[in-house]
Amino acid sequence: MSQRYLLGLDVGTSGTKALLIDGAGRVKATANVEYPMFTPRPLWAEQKPEDWWKASAAAIRAVLKKARAKGSDVAGVGLTGQMHGLVLLDKSGKVLRPCIMWNDQRTAKQCAAITKKVGAKRVIALTGNPVLPGFTAPKIAWVRENEPGVFRKAAKALLPKDYIRYRLTGEFFGEVSDASGTSLFDVGRRRWSDEMLKAVGVPRAWLPEITESPVASTRVSATAAAATGLVAGTPVVGGGGDQAAQAVGTGIVSEGAVSVTLGTSGVVFAASDRYRVEPSGLLHAFCHAVPGKWHLMGVMLSAGGSLRWYRDALCGEEKALAARRGCDPYEIMIAEAAKAPAGCEGLIFLPYLTGERTPHPDPLARGAFVGLTLRHGKGHLTRAVLEGVAYGLADSLTLMRELKLSVREIRASGGGARSPLWRQILADVFRAPVATVNSTDGAAYGAALLAGVGTGAFKSVESAAAKAVKVTGRTGVEKKTAAVYARYYPRYRALYPALKEEFAAVSGAGEG
Ligand code: XUL
Repeated sequence: MSQRYLLGLDVGTSGTKALLIDGAGRVKATANVEYPMFTPRPLWAEQKPEDWWKASAAAIRAVLKKARAKGSDVAGVGLTGQMHGLVLLDKSGKVLRPCIMWNDQRTAKQCAAITKKVGAKRVIALTGNPVLPGFTAPKIAWVRENEPGVFRKAAKALLPKDYIRYRLTGEFFGEVSDASGTSLFDVGRRRWSDEMLKAVGVPRAWLPEITESPVASTRVSATAAAATGLVAGTPVVGGGGDQAAQAVGTGIVSEGAVSVTLGTSGVVFAASDRYRVEPSGLLHAFCHAVPGKWHLMGVMLSAGGSLRWYRDALCGEEKALAARRGCDPYEIMIAEAAKAPAGCEGLIFLPYLTGERTPHPDPLARGAFVGLTLRHGKGHLTRAVLEGVAYGLADSLTLMRELKLSVREIRASGGGARSPLWRQILADVFRAPVATVNSTDGAAYGAALLAGVGTGAFKSVESAAAKAVKVTGRTGVEKKTAAVYARYYPRYRALYPALKEEFAAVSGAGEG
């Protein structure tokens, strides 16, 4: 049997992506199948696990077809996906209610109650993180309080990709990186925390066995083989939460390597060779998908999202011009921004358009342009948005540096990283070179590499990443510009505390 390929499967928020790579890490084909997200009430976000499974099976069949491959060509499968979601099953394995997703905000009360019961410091000592509304444990508590009939029937609580593993293999297994985002996991010891399980009232039997991420813990079942086109018995490795898998796929696997992903949100992700916790819990501290390693992560809610808002709200002219020229409006906007001087002659943009997570966990934080004068034109405004996002990301990096994490190089990915000007601004604000890499397939790619490690195509996660991920470009620090930003960054940092109370007041001013 020729087994040329490794399959990565990413059960994402908008759809499932299947990707096939060969043993050298080259992408052969990808396939996406979408599904809806439901918001039955404000703050709620739910999906149907059955939709994920149908999409996963269809995406696997499609990717095999695109690559003209047979199921028997696949040596191993790696799973990844949206983190933190709660899938509850009864004792026969039936889904009891829709998944409560990572971006669901209904559990503020349950978070407060768990934190009060265990103690804020103790929660961080046990799990490395505060209990956050997106995490899994408070969702279990919510179901107990609000849907006691469902709670009584529950026999298993799984994360999204681990539910897909159950459908693919018939077995209950999880892995360390995704388990880290449940508030039930002892991130330092890489195992379930009995103390947290007891405090939240979750029976140990509800949770799957946990392995390190590249371990081939399970195999494709005959039923799943019929549904997907894979061969029964194909090994399925643990995989990883989407952020950890994405980091594997961009080579962020050893201390000193940091990535910045500029999508709608902005994620700063640092690999750490030892367990470190940010004492106030502002950075997420999770197990990495690399055995025996951890990672720290800061999440900014509106990174690329700030620039998109700015384009749609204020750049009608640029959009019209772009339509006439047949180019992207961002090209015209960024060319204007390049003409404005670094620091924008005192204009600073605060990117808190949808509140913020790191380092200001504040849903009422708001966006602002501060320092406008008659001198400021469109180019200044655009550049200020790019710089404000860079300052916001630098805040996560500052917290990492305060934990004595070395930052050798920053790898930038996501839509925003395609702009050379934005990359230059990032390098100058961060005072570290910013690199781009060849892999652009995100978490699914990292999951496929993990499958290769678990099935012997690569010796280790580190060697898989070294073999498959190559730097394609490097933006160095321009000393003069970096010196300008070094003067403005403290001013940026002073603005949120100065405006915090007013943000809360203006966001509620229209009420009553
Ligand atoms: C990570 C997080 C997101 C989700 C969805 O903490 O909330 O990355 O996993 O992508």
